[in-house]
Amino acid sequence: MTHRNILGICGSLRSQSYNRSALLAASELMPQGMQLRIADYRQIPLYDQDLERAGMPSAVQQLAQDIRSADALLIASPEYNFSISGVLKNAIDWLSRLQEQPLKNKPVALMSATLGPVGGARHQYEVRKILGCLEALVMPRPEVFINLCQPKFDADGRLVDAAARKAVADQMQAFGSWTERMLAP
Ligand SMILES: Cc1cc2nc3c(=O)[nH]c(=O)nc-3n(C[C@H](O)[C@H](O)[C@H](O)COP(=O)(O)O)c2cc1C
Repeated sequence: MTHRNILGICGSLRSQSYNRSALLAASELMPQGMQLRIADYRQIPLYDQDLERAGMPSAVQQLAQDIRSADALLIASPEYNFSISGVLKNAIDWLSRLQEQPLKNKPVALMSATLGPVGGARHQYEVRKILGCLEALVMPRPEVFINLCQPKFDADGRLVDAAARKAVADQMQAFGSWTERMLAP
């Protein structure tokens, strides 16, 4: 079986993030052969072209390197004000400035957990548009929206809702196939 390294990117920086917990659930529910590691990119500064001119920040280069060395990306992020989290957009804007595009041709799956009823759909469609600009290969479906999410996680942050766990497991199964299809020569 081919071994695939999946880089998890969380659009929320808080330690108790539901989206980080969703990434951990995905890690647990992934098919054999897929392995997830969560990126740490909190040191990336706010995008500033003056900073860029002075030299690409090392935290941006590190995230780019993490993406390049991963076979695929799993992005889990909350929706902020009906749209993408600023933290995630900022990181993507920096990455887009690199000479060699780390996101180009990279298989990607999206999921979101939110307290709201829509589960982050508006965020995900925004991310699809942005990643389309950068030629990433975003899996069209199955989609995962963990809405009204607070009771779906236990006090330790474990995803316990049966329907949500099945949705994540089904998505990870499909993501395994999507990754193989997208990386096939
Ligand atoms: C600035 C901000 C904007 C938010 N906007 C939305 C929103 O548009 N839709 C929604 O469902 N939840 C919204 N929320 C609530 C988030 O769903 C909730 O804070 C969630 O726990 C964030 O994800 P995290 O647990 O991974 O940090 C917002 C929260 C913040 C802090």
